[in-house]
Amino acid sequence: TTPLRLGIAGLGTVGAGVVKIVQSHANLLAQRSGRPVVITAVSARTRARDRGVDLSAYAWEDDPVALARREDVDVLVELMGGSDGPAKAATEAALAEGKDVVTANKAMLALHGQALAEAAEQAGRVIRFEAAVAGGIPVIKALTEGLAGNRIERVMGVMNGTCNYILTRMESEGLPYETVFEEANALGYLEADPTLDVGGIDAGHKLALLSSIAFGTRVDFDGVELEGIERVSIVDIRHAADMGFRIKLLGVAQMTGRGLEQRMSPCLVPAHSPLGTLEGPTNMVVLEGDSVGQVVLRGAGAGEGPTASAVMGDVMDIARGCRLPTFGQPAAGLATARSARASAA
Ligand code: HSE
Repeated sequence: TTPLRLGIAGLGTVGAGVVKIVQSHANLLAQRSGRPVVITAVSARTRARDRGVDLSAYAWEDDPVALARREDVDVLVELMGGSDGPAKAATEAALAEGKDVVTANKAMLALHGQALAEAAEQAGRVIRFEAAVAGGIPVIKALTEGLAGNRIERVMGVMNGTCNYILTRMESEGLPYETVFEEANALGYLEADPTLDVGGIDAGHKLALLSSIAFGTRVDFDGVELEGIERVSIVDIRHAADMGFRIKLLGVAQMTGRGLEQRMSPCLVPAHSPLGTLEGPTNMVVLEGDSVGQVVLRGAGAGEGPTASAVMGDVMDIARGCRLPTFGQPAAGLATARSARASAA
């Protein structure tokens, strides 16, 4: 049987996690997909760093675009991050060369997902991104597979673990925002640009991706009404608690008479509801379908193991030959966009 050959671009926390799974679970992956899943080449900014994994069997590329173009790579696993620059260039190169792409890059997809989906569709390839939304929680697979027979009525969720950590610590310890922010920083929870977390932008990226899948619409990050947690005070949290509520950075997406409504903002949720009980750097996604009712998924939204787990779920889909389209109904969405452009012209 032909092995599936991965090229890993980016060897940070998540990249190292993926290497560990491929190495330690080789038999399990081969049994489950019917073919060996192997890494042939890797690339990262620095070669010297000790990542706690043995990379000696893999070819090294300094340039991720060169990695994406290698003949011995079937799937580009893009784990560099950054909405533009090398991540986008490597993704485009891989699709142009007829390779599938698995990525955890929420910012790139929220801003360029539609164009990349179109490129993938034209090339007859897929771009999969389970890890980009709510880390280890398989929420995209829940929507596209398990709930495929439902009309989705609403998706909600806490999709930034750092903000949830900050809000729950403020409440449990009575500490001001600034102090807990510094704590989160020391624990390494914050993105390189912390505004992405506390400004609600990172969670907004994830909501835009999730709603496009749930409702079969174009990815529309600009359409997300955004408010972060910077202005939530201890007093707000205490007042909410007195009334039986907790404050969460909550994303809500639903289809209304006026079209798709997407909001990511601090919200009151009942203290004893599933969302109200979510503590620490954790994520929760609530999916509502017309047949199934409410489904609640909870788990780690970040970190080496959980994010690598989601990346490998996508790799395994590709190994098994699953060719699901990128976003719910990309062909329909793209066709609508094209005819809208045509009629505007
Ligand atoms: N900064 C993100 C979070 C990481 O805190 O949830 C995972 O996307």
